[in-house]
Amino acid sequence: MADIICVIGNKGGTGKTTLSHMLCQGLGLLGQRSVCVLTDTCREPLDPAGRRYLVADARTREALGKVVDKVRSLKAWMGVIDGGGNRTEMDRQLYGLADLVLLPFRDSHEDIRTVIRDLEMFPHAYAIPSQWPTNVWQREAADKSVADLLAPYRDRILEPVATLSASKLLLQKDMPAGLPSPLGNACRGVARQVLDLLQISIADGFAAKESGHAAPARPAMAQPARALAA
Ligand SMILES: Nc1ncnc2c1ncn2[C@@H]1O[C@H](COP(=O)(O)OP(=O)(O)OP(=O)(O)O)[C@@H](O)[C@H]1O
Ligand SMILES: [Mg+2]
Repeated sequence: MADIICVIGNKGGTGKTTLSHMLCQGLGLLGQRSVCVLTDTCREPLDPAGRRYLVADARTREALGKVVDKVRSLKAWMGVIDGGGNRTEMDRQLYGLADLVLLPFRDSHEDIRTVIRDLEMFPHAYAIPSQWPTNVWQREAADKSVADLLAPYRDRILEPVATLSASKLLLQKDMPAGLPSPLGNACRGVARQVLDLLQISIADGFAAKESGHAAPARPAMAQPARALAA
């Protein structure tokens, strides 16, 4: 049965959508098929062309139910559900159906306060530092804030996703052909963390690929996004 990963959290702008797409792209680069699921009614679906994953539009409750059922029925696939800020009820619903829950947060006390609330509300969720500073001094200060303020949750804090300007390319409606390699590396890093948490070895992905279950190197997206939407 497919795994469902939800990227949620109360605070807006933490990087939920970017992380969801980075994760799917990274899974694709590692040979794992996935679908990125849009639930945010304030956003438009992105064109799946050129991506190493499918995209699905689940902006209504019915569509979400159908997409989740469809993904669950697909052996060796993963569904990554992108939540939306300020939607506690939706977050609760997504938490209830997920195999893994990620809570991105940025380097600010406000984000950290919010993620503490979310970590309390969702006891199996993991927090993931997002848009993390790359400057050595800023990074040190950011890591210290996490060590100080999130000490009781330290086993539930994942490796940071660094600030990377190219990450915005994944959120373009039409993705440009050929992404910069630092972006590919960052996407792979996110995907590896998630596969580790789900105890799926990367070798399994390649094994699946050999047996014809994983995504081709550059899927033609013959199955349009609509196929997974309501
Ligand atoms: N790793 C990153 N490096 C650089 N910029 C980033 C990164 N992650 C996110 N951003 C930027 O931060 C902004 C917010 O990101 P994003 O839209 O992914 O957040 P969100 O949590 O989905 O927001 P919302 O709550 O509105 O759904 C965007 O401009 C995005 O390009
Ligand atoms: Mg978003």
